[in-house]
Amino acid sequence: MLKPALPGDVRLATVVGAGLMGRRIAGIIARGGADVVLHDTNAELLEGAVAVASQMASESPTAGTVSSSTSLAEAIEGSDFITEAIIEDLGAKQQLIAAISELTERAIIATNTSVLPITSIAAFATAPDRVVGTHWWNPPDLIPIVEVVRGQRTSTEVIDRTVALLEHLGKLAVRVERDVPGFVGNRLQHALWREAIALVADGVCDAETADLVCRNTMGLRLAQMGPIETADYVGLDLTRAIHEAVLPSLSTDTFANPILTTLIERGDLGAKSGQGFLTWPEGRREKAAAELAAHVSTQLHARSQH
Ligand SMILES: NC(=O)c1ccc[n+]([C@@H]2O[C@H](COP(=O)([O-])OP(=O)(O)OC[C@H]3O[C@@H](n4cnc5c(N)ncnc54)[C@H](O)[C@@H]3O)[C@@H](O)[C@H]2O)c1
Repeated sequence: MLKPALPGDVRLATVVGAGLMGRRIAGIIARGGADVVLHDTNAELLEGAVAVASQMASESPTAGTVSSSTSLAEAIEGSDFITEAIIEDLGAKQQLIAAISELTERAIIATNTSVLPITSIAAFATAPDRVVGTHWWNPPDLIPIVEVVRGQRTSTEVIDRTVALLEHLGKLAVRVERDVPGFVGNRLQHALWREAIALVADGVCDAETADLVCRNTMGLRLAQMGPIETADYVGLDLTRAIHEAVLPSLSTDTFANPILTTLIERGDLGAKSGQGFLTWPEGRREKAAAELAAHVSTQLHARSQH
């Protein structure tokens, strides 16, 4: 007997790109009850990806199955919801979307790009109305939000079904109604990074101080009260006065800060090379990842107790 479809009318899902994000997204969808097929051009990593996704799915008694295929056509045959999570390269994503849309006449095609325009990716699809942005955050099983981004031609039905599926999967699905670079989350995030990097580059403070101030002021508050609510909370008259005093001197650079190029040309790429703005001795990156995951889990746990 055919098992009932999940909200969004999804029984079978496909995840193309079984890397860091794809394998965990597959695990979340399977845990929610749909059967999932993973596909990747690198066949060697499929076994490990299926193991990770299956392990996540095993946390639910009503989980769907996780399998893999080295053939794109086989992986998406009969699929209702296809998510691509391949490398962040516009040309590669456009080619993939073109290939996928040749092979399916009805599936929703979701793209997990972080910053690329959904409309440009969808332009290569035979049916751009079925292409939607789903920006998961890393790690996708921990961070609640998925930004559901409307491309210029995405249909409202596709948005609604995608939101319904994601909510069933336990995600906080938010609608981004215009396809702007970086959507909502990365625009907010990189407005802050631009200013932090400018402060360091201009010698206002050192790198440690910029992070220390952020973590011990707004960082403590932001998970509870966002910038819009905070503006209301302190008063819009005060907010306007602060903006009039401070906005004229904030960085408005429309290019990456030259200090990044200086560091990169020195080979200082950050944690992966051992030196960036900060020094990263052996083991610091792993320790930071573990501490970050523990911190996020603790916050989410505390929030669930309220
Ligand atoms: N890593 C993050 O923090 C993060 C967060 C949010 C969104 N994203 C987005 O998710 C996507 C994937 O990121 P990731 O970190 O998982 O990358 P990753 O490099 O870990 O995985 C990408 C996978 O795609 C495969 N691949 C490449 N081209 C392919 C193709 N044409 N067909 C099938 N498979 C192909 C690669 O073999 C690789 O396994 C990117 O668009 C990225 O911007 C990443």
